[in-house]
Amino acid sequence: MRISGTIDLPGDKSISHRALMFASIANGESIINNLSTGEDVVSTMKCLIACGAKIVKNNDVKIEGVELKEPSSLLDCGNSGTTVRLLAGLLAGQGINAEFIGDKSLCSRPMDRIIKPLSDMGVEIDSDNGFLPIKINSKNIKGISFRSEIASAQVKSCVLLAALGASEASMISEKIKTRDHTEIFLKSLGANIKINNNISIDPLKSSLKSFNLDVPGDPSSASFFAAAAALIPNSSITIRNILANPTRIGFFKVLEKMNGGVEWRNMRSVNGESVGDVHVYWKPLNGIDINRDMVPEIIDELPIISILASQAEGPTIVAGAEELRVKESDRIEAICTNLYSMGCDVIEKKDGFIIEGGSNLYNTSIKTFGDHRIAMSFTIAGLLTPKINELDDAKCINISFPEFNNILDRVLI
Ligand code: S3P
Repeated sequence: MRISGTIDLPGDKSISHRALMFASIANGESIINNLSTGEDVVSTMKCLIACGAKIVKNNDVKIEGVELKEPSSLLDCGNSGTTVRLLAGLLAGQGINAEFIGDKSLCSRPMDRIIKPLSDMGVEIDSDNGFLPIKINSKNIKGISFRSEIASAQVKSCVLLAALGASEASMISEKIKTRDHTEIFLKSLGANIKINNNISIDPLKSSLKSFNLDVPGDPSSASFFAAAAALIPNSSITIRNILANPTRIGFFKVLEKMNGGVEWRNMRSVNGESVGDVHVYWKPLNGIDINRDMVPEIIDELPIISILASQAEGPTIVAGAEELRVKESDRIEAICTNLYSMGCDVIEKKDGFIIEGGSNLYNTSIKTFGDHRIAMSFTIAGLLTPKINELDDAKCINISFPEFNNILDRVLI
């Protein structure tokens, strides 16, 4: 058994959330192709519709920009941290009051990280001690000078979106650069935003421009097939039309550092975002050290990187990754528990883990913790065992990537 083929993937989840939000308040009609099909993006779409957005979804998605209004129901963000954190900022900036709820996982994730800066901008917020449900009441919000102590694009984006409706300019800086799709997208739609070491952003004087967008393929979804090709001898895969923003291709940089075969081809720019085709092929891997500065670029890919590490020669040490504990699950615990039960030597640390390479893995029952990326990572790990792994919750994969198993079946030969 090996991996072979050329594939295209559904659109990037981060860009899909943002495209829906920006089109909903833009001037005129926007058309979005290749939107992410995951349930998280559906959560964003439903919340926007509850706020009066005019969204029609067929093969493409057509959105007529409107002035959003106060929703008559609670905004259910499901499992999606991006939905609640970005939408809270967007609605605060548009002067709209709303109450956000979510599923069990989302209710256990910290919201104080957005409550603090939004409160400093003058938004009144009720919350359950820094957790969902949160209620925002926003009138006349002020600009802010904000330095994010946590490396989080969701927090940065929340503040940027609120700043669009502030009474004066805002300034935002971050210790370690996180994904910058909000900045790139807003700039391309006419917002006055300057991106240097700091980001400065003016309140909108006129509506954002409407747009036509083909969302590039999701590099986080691509990482699972790339990892499978990198792990199984004599495999190779080409994944076309992938978002190649430098803040999002950390997985491929790590794979190269581990001696994996990675070639980027056909690089181009789409609405200010870099896009390319990536070709990945099998080569023996070696373990590496991963430190805090590298973490934001691989924050969603550390689960699948842990599977690469289990097969590399020598140990892989991941440090400075405590943010993994507050993702859809505690991903440090989820990675360590499942790798251990597959027979891998792994040491759990507060801020990461140490994986001894060269493991002979055996199949087992995987505890997904309801986390899509854990489910997909350990499906790939199961390809390395005599029999595949069983997942306690295979449906959670639909959160980001409902097509995952079909595409995997296509490229496994
Ligand atoms: C996202 C940012 C990241 C990432 C998440 C999507 C975004 O979260 O983990 O899947 O679209 O801005 P943080 O920025 O909070 O780390």
